Amino acid sequence: MSAAVGECGDFAALVIAWQRRHGRHDLPWQQSCEPYRVWLSEIMLQQTQVTTVLAYYERFLQRFPDVRSLAGASVDEVLALWSGLGYYSRARLLHRCAQQIVDQHGGHFPRQAAVLATLPGIGRSTAAAIAAFCFGERSAILDGNVKRVLARVFAIDDDLAQAAPVRILWERAQALLPTTQLPSRMPAYTQGLMDLGATLCLPRQPQCERCPLARLCQARAQGQPQRYPVKVRKAAPRRVVSLWLLHAVDGQGRVWLERRPARGIWAALHCLPAFDTRAQALGWLAQAGPAPVLEHPPFTHILTHRELHLHVLTGAVDAPAAFGEPGGWFAASDWLQLGLPAPVRRFLAARERG
Ligand code: ADE
Repeated sequence: MSAAVGECGDFAALVIAWQRRHGRHDLPWQQSCEPYRVWLSEIMLQQTQVTTVLAYYERFLQRFPDVRSLAGASVDEVLALWSGLGYYSRARLLHRCAQQIVDQHGGHFPRQAAVLATLPGIGRSTAAAIAAFCFGERSAILDGNVKRVLARVFAIDDDLAQAAPVRILWERAQALLPTTQLPSRMPAYTQGLMDLGATLCLPRQPQCERCPLARLCQARAQGQPQRYPVKVRKAAPRRVVSLWLLHAVDGQGRVWLERRPARGIWAALHCLPAFDTRAQALGWLAQAGPAPVLEHPPFTHILTHRELHLHVLTGAVDAPAAFGEPGGWFAASDWLQLGLPAPVRRFLAARERG
């Protein structure tokens, strides 16, 4: 029999005590309360696993140790360091946010979640996490993992893709925070909720025997915690899109790269010229002279809503002028510095290695 939250003691106290004994303490961004570092980690961790983020985080900090160095960089350099992490709009907004902090906040991060949430790329939950970790503010987080934890503890069977139930969940999350007398517990509480969601309250195989909230959890009492949060609508099926990429190489071994449009797949990244059909790609290459063309075996790259089937055609080109703007010829030492879509970077790197 589960007990109502409140009867069984303090939800927050249970989360904090568990975090102190069993939570994660060695992640690099936990070693500092510096808002720049915490913000960077939170943005990288949106939609990306901790294990993937670790190497990117260190590399990024080495090149951009503070918000001013990031604000002063070119967006291409930022995208290059982000290359492979995906969801590139995060990198563009990160850069814009750094510039805004320098221009409008004297290079200092605002301390309140409500102000942080007005900055580019910082949503309500990320703002609360930064304010809680760095400044002890009593502000609730509600990312995907925390939604799952709360949906189970309270056996909420509403569709969390809808705004109204999520609004109610925000209210609950705020009501569960450690008491006003103890803002110093906010970092452990916030990290504890994240850790619970990431390590025990798993989508398919929740580890209820080890969960500090098991006695409170209504979904567990019903015997089927994995039923929550309920899936009301199926995700839209992935659309399959074929792209023909032209790997045009000049006499010096340089490749032709173009900047993608600001919207759509791989927005604003540099890329091999892309075409909808093989005939278009060959037609374009033919303008540069009758060069033999090598066709590589196609490969697949998965994006959130699309499955890309990529076909790469390599052609030697003697007359670079035949290609129009916007684009340019890049040697490996140059394209390494650019933001490239992950499969394009992998393809070019493999070609470099021979
Ligand atoms: N996911 C989002 N924020 C996190 C954090 N601070 N630590 C671990 N995983 C996270």
